[in-house]
Amino acid sequence: MNNNENNSNLSDQAIKIEESLSKIKHKIVVFSGKGGVGKTTVSVNLAYSLQSEGFLTGILDADITGPNVPKMLGINDDLIVLDTQIIPFEKYGTKIISMASMIKNGQALIWRGPMRSKVINQFLSDVIWGELDYLIADLPPGTGDEILTIAQQMKPDYAVVVTTPQEVSVMDAERAVNMAKKLEIKHIGIVENMAGFICPHCKNAIDIFGTGGGKQLAEKYNLPFLGSIPIDIDARKLGDNGKPILLEKPDSDVSKAMKNIACDIEYNFTNNIK
Ligand SMILES: Nc1ncnc2c1ncn2[C@@H]1O[C@H](COP(=O)(O)OP(=O)(O)OP(=O)(O)O)[C@@H](O)[C@H]1O
Ligand SMILES: [Mg+2]
Repeated sequence: MNNNENNSNLSDQAIKIEESLSKIKHKIVVFSGKGGVGKTTVSVNLAYSLQSEGFLTGILDADITGPNVPKMLGINDDLIVLDTQIIPFEKYGTKIISMASMIKNGQALIWRGPMRSKVINQFLSDVIWGELDYLIADLPPGTGDEILTIAQQMKPDYAVVVTTPQEVSVMDAERAVNMAKKLEIKHIGIVENMAGFICPHCKNAIDIFGTGGGKQLAEKYNLPFLGSIPIDIDARKLGDNGKPILLEKPDSDVSKAMKNIACDIEYNFTNNIK
């Protein structure tokens, strides 16, 4: 392929991405800086919280080498790839795309940044998303290539930065906040996950990871604090079993916190609060 053909293919893809995104009202990225703080849990449950408010939602699993969204939603099917288009999965009413369905369980995908970015571009250009109110991108940990690709191509208008309350996580979340600012993402909000655990035996609250780190970060940068999500063993168990806690236990504290977060995001959009 010569340079001209290459450029024309690139611009074809850019046109397709623009077309696809023109049907999606809001694009949210969920990121954190640090791994394992609950990005995927928040992404999945946020999608169903927004859906329960009557919105059409989709989840783009942008964690190309460590995709977890299908596991948390019990999706084991193969993707249906048409000639030039990909049909997303639909689970409990939300559309989902992930690399997980293309790699075998336990297999390592060792791809450099440009390859990972190429897949994300394809998820934006070739997937039949249709009309959506919210597309939520679940990002991998860190501040790497996928995040730059998403920022440039998907043009998110909300960054949800997830942190746990302890200092090491807040420190990394601060990097994520600064990255979101540099990328000029219009709205940025902070979520504190794994904040406090109610002992099922003595009923006392135990702050396993400390408390208040997320709120302090929000205050430091004058950003909306979207809420705290407690530790709940059911959130983990249900996640492992492919069922979002929001749908299985809508009255749990985790689900209530997620619904409040979804309402706050919607409020921030409607009232243009940054
Ligand atoms: N509030 C919570 N209560 C109990 N378990 C939780 C909670 N939030 C997340 N978990 C569990 O913690 C683990 C890590 O969560 P998750 O996979 O969502 O994090 P992540 O930030 O997406 O990780 P990675 O950086 O690897 O992508 C999962 O097993 C999940 O079920
Ligand atoms: Mg994850």
